[in-house]
Amino acid sequence: MLADLRIAIAGDLHGAWDHSDHGLLAILKPDGLLVVGDLSDGHQRIPSLLRQLKLPVACVLGNHDTGKDSSGRTLQRQIEALGPLHCGWGLCQWPGLAVVGARPASAGGGFHLSQAALSAFGPVTLQQSVDRITTAAMAADPDVPFILLGHSGPTGLGSEATAPCGRDWKPPAMDWGDQDLALAIEQIRRHRPVPLVVFGHMHHALRRGQGERVSFCRDRAGTAYLNTACVPRHGSDAAGRDLRHFSWVEFSGQQLVHVSHRWYGLGGELLYEERLFEVPVAARLDAPQLSLC
Ligand SMILES: [Fe+2]
Repeated sequence: MLADLRIAIAGDLHGAWDHSDHGLLAILKPDGLLVVGDLSDGHQRIPSLLRQLKLPVACVLGNHDTGKDSSGRTLQRQIEALGPLHCGWGLCQWPGLAVVGARPASAGGGFHLSQAALSAFGPVTLQQSVDRITTAAMAADPDVPFILLGHSGPTGLGSEATAPCGRDWKPPAMDWGDQDLALAIEQIRRHRPVPLVVFGHMHHALRRGQGERVSFCRDRAGTAYLNTACVPRHGSDAAGRDLRHFSWVEFSGQQLVHVSHRWYGLGGELLYEERLFEVPVAARLDAPQLSLC
């Protein structure tokens, strides 16, 4: 049984996006592309490229997308360049999927607006941010799969440096997630399930030789959390083959059934895969049920 919906996700780009990625997407033909921000440092090249793609794309901008421009103008130009692709504090609704963006330009660390974000958005309280995310989620079609897309993940996923949003660049290690996103998830769950939260920002390779980050977990409510920040996402293997990283998720109906990190060759060959979550076909909610009569 094939999944109903196949979504490619590009973690923090930091400039690593070009026509080779477009060629790969043309071969892989996912149903949509999610982009978690930190496209570059405020340059126009990548938003323009993303606008050229022929598949549905949803993007939330990250802290690097401010270009360290405290006037907020660089951040605003990035948002304008992305146009309808930017879902920060809003909804991107496709025929088979609803994507709701968390707070744009987040650098994690609870709830903090940089000077660039303050200049671009004005003062926004924690509760206002929570309400913006929740309101966007309430407008989403209840009959299609639903994904929350943040640059930073939510608080509550652990305080260790290796946690999906754990601070690793200086001691002490602590939970560096976004508090508004965590509160929004709680509010949204009163109305509909939240099957998947996708984010980046906290790179997989930890600083100071501390190893690799845990990039996937699920909570007791059944929400899955996926950190996609494999940086750099362009590379090569020991055989000299070019590699492109995408995280990959699949839904069967409204059920999340597959999550992985994938490294593709430029011709679309799946060269390496780290499988993070898989629901066997027989356990899927829309699988044919055996009669006991
Ligand atoms: Fe970031």
